[in-house]
Amino acid sequence: MADNREIVVTGGGTGIGYAVAAAFAQAGERVTITGRREKVLTEAATLLGARPVVFDAADPAAVEAALAELPERVDVLVNNAGGNTDFLDGGGEEGLAGFAAAFERNLRSNVVGAALVTHALRDRLADGARIITVGSIAAHTGAGSYGAAKAAVEAWNVSVARDFGPRGITANVVAPGLIGDTEFFHGQLSEQRREWLIGNTMNKRPGTPDDVVAVVTFVASPAAGHVTGQVVHVNGGAHLGK
Ligand SMILES: NC(=O)c1ccc[n+]([C@@H]2O[C@H](COP(=O)([O-])OP(=O)(O)OC[C@H]3O[C@@H](n4cnc5c(N)ncnc54)[C@H](OP(=O)(O)O)[C@@H]3O)[C@@H](O)[C@H]2O)c1
Repeated sequence: MADNREIVVTGGGTGIGYAVAAAFAQAGERVTITGRREKVLTEAATLLGARPVVFDAADPAAVEAALAELPERVDVLVNNAGGNTDFLDGGGEEGLAGFAAAFERNLRSNVVGAALVTHALRDRLADGARIITVGSIAAHTGAGSYGAAKAAVEAWNVSVARDFGPRGITANVVAPGLIGDTEFFHGQLSEQRREWLIGNTMNKRPGTPDDVVAVVTFVASPAAGHVTGQVVHVNGGAHLGK
């Protein structure tokens, strides 16, 4: 693997993705961050010393168009972009069509996007590369279409690990529980719900982006070459990924 690796972090402008990008940048790697909001992304990239590439990871045409700006070789792909779209659209409009549309938004945002970006970059992944996709505790504890989408991420990851394994490329899901200092809840986490989520942990605290960074950087390391096809939980014991 190259000394200075090419790292791509989708959704790297805020929250967990920003912290992951910062850790790689501080380690001297070459970092590209992506996201939809140009201003947020370019400001983050300036702070990080990273390269911003603005596109919607869940839109095939946008991903296709972004390929020209993405690195020719990718050593670490962190599929971090995503989130619970119900927090943005209130779970969709009335009626079955509205329900289906809201459900599909979560699937697109969380699993189609990760699969799409990975597929688009498949021929640029270096031998020995690392594919890391950010899942969620919600895949196991349930959260409607968001939990279903993150569960699908885990199933998809298994086939990615199998397909890319012969080239020494690993594919793992890092699945956080409640993580503070992110835009994830879009102001919709009540104090009561937050306390309940913290109460479910064994260490009685919310996670931090750096808690996730520690695991992402480990599975991204050359030393972690025999860790693949796995779901690694970062949740303070709120769910046991035995
Ligand atoms: N925070 C938590 O408690 C928690 C827990 C479990 C799992 N997670 C997962 O952690 C990951 C990171 O979320 P976060 O907590 O750091 O929240 P966040 O601050 O909202 O970060 C999500 C980032 O992804 C980008 N993004 C979302 N959809 C995108 C798309 N279609 N195309 C490109 N970029 C997109 C957003 O930027 P733009 O809006 O500008 O595109 C944003 O920068 C997500 O996959 C989330 O599901 C979070």
